[in-house]
Amino acid sequence: MKKAKKIVTMILVITMLAGLAACSSKTESKTENPETEKMSDTMKKIKKSGKIVVGTEASFPPLEFHKEIDGKDTITGFDIFVAEEIAKDLGVELEIKDMSFDGLLAALVAGNVDFVAAGMAATEERRQSVDFSIRYYDTLQTILARDDNKDEFPADSDMKGKLIGVQKGSTQSEIMSRMYPKAKTVEIAKNADIILQLQSGKIDGALLDDPIAQLYAIANPGLTATELIFKNDPEYDVGSSIAVSKEAPDVLESIDKTLQRIMDDGTYDKLLEKADSMLDADMIDMLVDE
Ligand code: ARG
Repeated sequence: MKKAKKIVTMILVITMLAGLAACSSKTESKTENPETEKMSDTMKKIKKSGKIVVGTEASFPPLEFHKEIDGKDTITGFDIFVAEEIAKDLGVELEIKDMSFDGLLAALVAGNVDFVAAGMAATEERRQSVDFSIRYYDTLQTILARDDNKDEFPADSDMKGKLIGVQKGSTQSEIMSRMYPKAKTVEIAKNADIILQLQSGKIDGALLDDPIAQLYAIANPGLTATELIFKNDPEYDVGSSIAVSKEAPDVLESIDKTLQRIMDDGTYDKLLEKADSMLDADMIDMLVDE
C-alpha cells in the first residue's frame, strides 16, 4: 500500500515537472529564439534574405574571371565555385559583386558584401581590419615579361630602374617595395590593363601570383613568365584566404567548415579542375579585351 502511494506521488511529481517544462519552453518561444539571439547581424541578414553576398575582383583567372556562357557575361572560377559551396552549406543563394580589388575590404567592413573571395592573402596589415578563414590556396610570385626583354630579369636581378606593374592594393605592391626598392612600382587597377601595358611596352614587367602569371603567358604569345622570384621562399608565398567581418565570427566558422569539408571530401580538386576547364580560347580573348 505504502509503495503504491509512493508511485502515485512520483507520477504526480513527474507530471508536474513535465508541465513546468512545457510552460517554460512556451515562454521561451515567445521571446526571441535563443539560436537567432546568438547570431551575428551579418548571419541574421543572410538567413533572413536567403542570400549571401560575395565580393570579388574578376580579372584573376583561374580564381575569378569573366566568361561568356550561353551568350551571357558570367563571373566564374575556382573562388566562385568555393563561394557557391559556402552558400549551399548555409542553405542560401549566392550573389556576386565584382568591384575594384583595392575597394574590397572597405566594402566588407561597410557591410556591402558578406565575405570576400578574391585570391586574397591574409596579411598582418589586412588582419587589422578583417578576419580571415583558413588558407585554401597556395601561390608563389612570378615576374611576367615580354619575350624580347625576359633576359633582363635574371634570377638575382634587383630590377633597378625597371617599371613593374602590380594590381593596386595587392600584396604584390607591398612585395615590390619591400624586396625590390630599386624598381619602380606602377599600380594598376585591373590585371587586364597590366597585360595591355606590358604588351605595349609602357611597363617592363608585372609581378603576379604565379598561377595567374603562367596563365597570362599561355594566353598571350609574346609574354613569358620568368624565373625571377618564382622560388620556394616563404616570403613570396602569400596564399589565399577568405575575408570576413570581425563582427561575424559565426559566418567565419561556417566558411572554415565548408573549406575543410571540400578539402576533405575531394570537392576541392574537382572544383579546381572545373575552373581550369573553363579556361578556353574565348575566355583568353576576354582577359585582354575588356
Ligand atoms: N594575392 C594578391 C593579394 O592578396 C592578389 C590578389 C588579386 N586578386 C584578384 N581577384 N584580383 O593581394
